[in-house]
Amino acid sequence: MHIVSTEIQDYAENYTSFESKILTELREKTFAERDDKSMLSGFYQGRLLAMFSKMIQPKRILEIGTYMGYSAMCLAEGLTENGEIITLDVNEEFNKTAKSFWAKSAHADKIKSFVGNALEIIPTLDKTFDLVFIDADKPSYLNYYNLVFPKLRIGGIVIADNILWSGKVWKPKTTARKLTRTRKACTNLIKKFRRMSASAMFCWQCATV
Ligand SMILES: C[S@@+](CC[C@H](N)C(=O)[O-])C[C@H]1O[C@@H](n2cnc3c(N)ncnc32)[C@H](O)[C@@H]1O
Repeated sequence: MHIVSTEIQDYAENYTSFESKILTELREKTFAERDDKSMLSGFYQGRLLAMFSKMIQPKRILEIGTYMGYSAMCLAEGLTENGEIITLDVNEEFNKTAKSFWAKSAHADKIKSFVGNALEIIPTLDKTFDLVFIDADKPSYLNYYNLVFPKLRIGGIVIADNILWSGKVWKPKTTARKLTRTRKACTNLIKKFRRMSASAMFCWQCATV
């Protein structure tokens, strides 16, 4: 299900600023060659991530879910001069492809990647983050959020990809276990975000951890 109609999507894309050549190359190659291409943040989302990052001007970003490395390059656009983005993925093959594209980008020295289960890697990261992008397996979203929250700087921002799960969260309940688990994970995160998103509350919460 598409929450936004194709017409609106096309219009928005037509009037959105351009991405770099290397991003286009990676996006087009992924779409031409891979069955799992829907995992890649598209052009519009990529520009939105880049815009958020440029507004926040983070020193350090954590990304959970690298895939082909597309969103990591978009987010890297907003990093400060000595900033870094750390991106995590369980899949070694994805990491190799991502690295080969980062190497050709303007942000190669700012992107650091780790291969492994993010739930195990995050607790080992002794760092503070200004921006976190959660874009991995949905049932673990709340766990990721709970793990990264103590590592967020006061006023830090968490962006979670597609927590409305393309509209499936408000579809009638089913008995399918995976569907129920994922729906619950998204809904719990939405409830948590609702409590956190007022900026005063958010800062206060960060200050207390
Ligand atoms: C939707 S894709 C990420 C897309 C990427 N952020 C982008 O926009 O181009 C989700 C990724 O999460 C990874 N993933 C799933 N479970 C994970 C886990 N437990 N730890 C780390 N990565 C995981 C998958 O291998 C997959 O590459």
